[in-house]
Formats: sequence, C-alpha cells, structure tokens
Amino acid sequence: MVTAWDSITARIADDAGVDMILVGDSLANTALGYPNTLPVSLDAMYHHASAVSRTSGDALVVFDLPFLGCCGNMAEDVRACGRALKDCGCHAVKMEGTPLDLVRALTGQGIPVMGHLGLMPQRVHQYGGMFVQGRGNDAGTVLESARALVDAGIFSLVLECVPEDLGARVAREIPVPVIGIGAGRFVDGQVQVLADLLGLLPGKTPKHARRYADLLDQATKAVSEYASDVRASRFPGEEQTFGDA
Ligand code: KIV
Repeated sequence: MVTAWDSITARIADDAGVDMILVGDSLANTALGYPNTLPVSLDAMYHHASAVSRTSGDALVVFDLPFLGCCGNMAEDVRACGRALKDCGCHAVKMEGTPLDLVRALTGQGIPVMGHLGLMPQRVHQYGGMFVQGRGNDAGTVLESARALVDAGIFSLVLECVPEDLGARVAREIPVPVIGIGAGRFVDGQVQVLADLLGLLPGKTPKHARRYADLLDQATKAVSEYASDVRASRFPGEEQTFGDA
C-alpha cells in the first residue's frame, strides 16, 4: 500500500501494481505544504480523493478521515464518511484511534473501515512530537484497542511506528490484515508515503522509509536546465515551433 494525493501519484501507484492506495491526510505535508496533518479539511480530502479514484484502476482506494473530520453526530458522521465512497469513488475509509461506535455505524451501512493505531499523527500535540508508541506497558493498550476495533468491524488495521515485537504480536493476535508503517517486518503488509519512497521532499527520509528514487533532485535539475535553455535561446528549438502549413 502507498499513499497518493492526485491523478499523477495515483497513476504511478496503480501502474506499479500496488494492492491498495491510501489517500492519506499526510497529503497535508506532501501536497499542501503544512507542517503536520491537522489543518487539512474534509473538503480538501474529498477533492484529492476524487482525483485519485478517477485515475486508479485495480487498487483498493482508502480515504483517510482528517482531524476533526467527524463531529459526534452519528448520522452526519456516517454521511461524511459515506461521501468518500458515494461522491469520491473510494472503497473504504481509514480513521485514527478507537471511535468504536462510528466504526460499528459505518460497517452497519456497508462502509468498510480500516483502523489506525500506534503513532497517530493527528495526536502530534498530545504526544509533544512524533515518537514511537506502544513501548513497555503501552503495548497492552495498543493490543486491546486493536481487538476492540476488530470487534467493532474493521477489515484491516494500519499500525504506525511501534516496536517490531508489538507489530508481530498484533498481527498474530488479530484476525484482520495488519498493515505496518514502521511496525517491523512481521506484519501482513506495508504502507509508505509515496513522497518518501520517491524522494519528493527535501530533508531526511524517515527511519521507517526507504528512498527508492531522488525525484525532487531530478525534477529540479530538469526545470533548471529548461530555464537555462530559455535564457540562452536554446529553447524552443525548431522542432517545438509551428509553421504556416
Ligand atoms: O496519512 C497517511 O499517509 C497515513 C499513513 C502514515 C499510514 O495515515
């Protein structure tokens, strides 16, 4: 599973043959320039999700519920999540934490729900930063939450930045696929933010990611070459111009 946020990234993911595409609220960082995921709105998520699902083919497209995307009124919340399927063409929704009543209400309406435990980036201010979760006694809480989400009806669980042992234990003990990001090698699948895999962002690659390409560097060089060519009258060339006939 990888994230995508527009038609170009969805095409890359889908053509690469990944099984699932996550329209993650990390698009706040990757596409919108925010320092964390909190500012991205539900409407912005719908906009990006529609672009992704318009382009993707076989992959299962998962819509990420943004921070405060739901308001506590069950009927309105089910409708807000349902729009991801009805209006945007996604196949499932993902949400951080343990909103068990909402998970039950959504699955009751036929809306598949993916859970998200471990490091939950929407809680960055509560943590005081982005830190590995589930160490020591907290491991039991993660496991209990995972079991409660399974009982409420999730079809899969994202587990972010927890010790490898805990990742393995959750994957062993719950009956739905556990998709890890920084949860070690012994889970059922992996998810990564596409910008990290492709080297699209400046700065250090997160420890849980591997940079498979350096596209930011390559793209910057390409545009710089174009700008130099224009300034030196090397572009456009004859082949980029139109004649009378
Ligand atoms: O928004 C996102 O990209 C995510 C992944 C980190 C799983 O939730």
